[in-house]
Amino acid sequence: MARIAALCLGLMAAATPVAASEVEGARAAELKHLVIQDCGSCHGLTMKGGLGRPITRDLMQHYDREILRDIILDGIPGTAMPPWRPLMSEADAMWIADYLRGVDQ
Ligand code: HEC
Repeated sequence: MARIAALCLGLMAAATPVAASEVEGARAAELKHLVIQDCGSCHGLTMKGGLGRPITRDLMQHYDREILRDIILDGIPGTAMPPWRPLMSEADAMWIADYLRGVDQ
């Protein structure tokens, strides 16, 4: 019985996605600040849109995290959406992607 329980736990662990991102603590707080200050300057303090389109949780949930990460890193050429690659790592951008999607982290 114990072996079966252990096996089930093992399977559950395997099915659970790895931790949402590698960013935590102080860096996460900095990124949260950046989202409000910098992203917010175009997308609105509550992300409901301004110069940039709304990027609220409801809307962002329809994006894959990798796609959102790439939009953040590379911007959208030909629009005011700038690339953030010079200012952050891929892990940072992934953290923001998950943050916008409302994923627990
Ligand atoms: C200088 C203004 C500006 C800043 C700063 C800015 N954006 Fe944008 N962003 C835009 C504009 C304008 C668009 C819409 C581009 C278009 O017409 O497709 C956009 C589009 C987006 C989109 C795609 C939205 C969609 O519906 O497809 C995402 C996601 C996004 N921005 C995230 C961010 C994040 C995250 C930050 C901060 C790290 C940020 N933006 C900072 C101007 C900005």
